[in-house]
Amino acid sequence: MSIEIEIVTGDPAWPRVKPLYDLVWPPETLAQLSWANVEFAHADLRVIVEADEQPVCHVGLYRRTGIWRERPIRIGGIGGVLTHPDFRRQGLASIAIDAALHTLRDERSNDFALLFCDPDMAGFYTSRNWKPYLGEVFAEQKGERIRFDAMQPLVYYLKRAPHEGELDLCGLPW
Ligand SMILES: CC(C)(COP(=O)(O)OP(=O)(O)OC[C@H]1O[C@@H](n2cnc3c(N)ncnc32)[C@H](O)[C@@H]1OP(=O)(O)O)[C@@H](O)C(=O)NCCC(=O)NCCS
Repeated sequence: MSIEIEIVTGDPAWPRVKPLYDLVWPPETLAQLSWANVEFAHADLRVIVEADEQPVCHVGLYRRTGIWRERPIRIGGIGGVLTHPDFRRQGLASIAIDAALHTLRDERSNDFALLFCDPDMAGFYTSRNWKPYLGEVFAEQKGERIRFDAMQPLVYYLKRAPHEGELDLCGLPW
């Protein structure tokens, strides 16, 4: 089996990864999740891991200027972390997340990385050096600014990593 990893532009690559999303989160599974009805941003970039030319693992990357404690802050977002069920526990998601973090760090402009997950997934990330964000997060939904608490926010140090205070994503969440 040959494994390849690539980082590609978000929207054009969506048709390549949509079948993987549909497999991991079919409608009946999605309906039970706390974020089933959340409107998400589209990924700017995607890390795609392919096995024998089929996408088996994905991580989306998002770049956003948000506002933290009333000042602009550059956020590198990570979302849409998923691995094909037949390819789990082989380190693929860890590799893809590392590639995403390297990309965000290499861009040099991002202050910290931020992701949102179900509370029962937090352990996966905290064991990989992500820290809970304890402050309030605001985001756009249906054209309005709302408190975004449907998922657990976690941060990763790039240049710095705020852990508390009011954070406005200034747009859709991811
Ligand atoms: C979570 C997920 C992406 C991990 O993918 P993966 O390629 O198997 O990840 P890795 O091989 O790099 O790491 C697997 C490790 O994470 C651990 N892990 C998986 N889910 C976990 C959880 N909910 N809490 C804590 N650890 C978890 C596994 O036990 C495994 O540990 P081990 O290597 O010590 O056995 C995959 O299980 C998946 O697609 N799940 C469904 C979608 C999902 O929930 N995505 C996360 C959205 S935030």
